[in-house]
Amino acid sequence: MLTRTIYLSLDPYQWGRRRSSLETAGEVCHGRTVSQVVESNMPAYREGDFVFNTNGWQAYGLTGEGISVFTYMFPRQIDPALAPISTAIGVLGMLGLTAYAGVYVQCAPKAGETVVVSAASGGVGQIVGQIAKLCGCRVVGIAGIPNKCAFVTAVLDFDACVSHKSPDLPEALAAACPDGIDAYFENVGGKVFEAVLPLLNPRSRISLCGLVSQYGNPSSDDPHEAWRNQGQSTFQRQNVEVHQLVVGNFVATHQDAFLADMADWVRDGRIKYKEDLWPGLRQAPTAFRAMLEGGNFGKTLVGVGEDPTLNESLRAGGQAITCWERCLEWRRSDYSAPAQHMLPSATKRRDCVSHESNRC
Ligand SMILES: NC(=O)c1ccc[n+]([C@@H]2O[C@H](COP(=O)([O-])OP(=O)(O)OC[C@H]3O[C@@H](n4cnc5c(N)ncnc54)[C@H](OP(=O)(O)O)[C@@H]3O)[C@@H](O)[C@H]2O)c1
Repeated sequence: MLTRTIYLSLDPYQWGRRRSSLETAGEVCHGRTVSQVVESNMPAYREGDFVFNTNGWQAYGLTGEGISVFTYMFPRQIDPALAPISTAIGVLGMLGLTAYAGVYVQCAPKAGETVVVSAASGGVGQIVGQIAKLCGCRVVGIAGIPNKCAFVTAVLDFDACVSHKSPDLPEALAAACPDGIDAYFENVGGKVFEAVLPLLNPRSRISLCGLVSQYGNPSSDDPHEAWRNQGQSTFQRQNVEVHQLVVGNFVATHQDAFLADMADWVRDGRIKYKEDLWPGLRQAPTAFRAMLEGGNFGKTLVGVGEDPTLNESLRAGGQAITCWERCLEWRRSDYSAPAQHMLPSATKRRDCVSHESNRC
């Protein structure tokens, strides 16, 4: 089956594959994609269908017998009537499952408990906090710039959000968690983890999802081992449960239940999601770097080819200018560090996403 790539997902683990030489120079970079079938000899797929697959960083790709599937990322049909098709690599895909598995299955928070999530405005973090809110918890986010903290509290309805850029992070986090921390969803590590450790309550739970602050660390030491050593004495004293999170371990057991729950939550507006769309495959390297440095805002994805469903819904709404064109407009100037200087103004960002009420 030949498919045309529409959206490419950018995820921090792709950097790990390069760094560890699992993927060598000259190979097509791996990446999860939303695609449209161009031609198919597979009975389950017809021309025009939308699929989740792993075309990687390229405009077209082959799927099917004889083409290796990237571990647990099996191709599947996407129903464009369920939600915007981009969500199949976001909130209604592996990213949403990561959040669900870590916070809902591993941490199993109870109503009234305090849940903290780092990289709170990012792809995984924004979903984690909202699931914890659905469980009746007090939810505290940790994010970078003030815009992100404001989004997390004002739009996602977290109870508080503190900035890891503040020199007073430990004090600010302690003030936001007056009853300590019962569950922590770890995306970051480093000084954020340092601030979390003294606040962990007895029998608290941690889902160790990622350590993005360490991904550029030139040391060859295993960051997970260093993280465990850093927390060891607190873990023992407070009887903390630490769960290593590998989303692939939850696909067979939890993906179907997750998709059913999450589709309902997104449809009802109980879960909102923010996508950070970078139009054009050429932007993928720039967008990837931005994501690792905090220059993204929401789930990072690259628009590779035209999304016909998006255009249809926009036409139905009678809008003269497409979201796609507006995104192009505000992404025209290339990303350059420092990250906070490249963030487009709130007005432009709102313009770009106005066609979906729960898509911020
Ligand atoms: N275990 C699994 O199976 C699995 C699956 C998917 C993802 N993950 C992990 O989940 C985490 C989030 O992934 P994502 O795709 O949702 O990315 P993301 O959160 O959308 O983007 C990464 C964010 O990390 C934050 N960050 C970067 N450097 C930082 C630093 N030095 N200190 C504090 N924060 C920093 C930035 O947010 P701020 O601007 O707010 O600092 C940035 O926006 C990553 O660690 C990833 O590896 C794990």
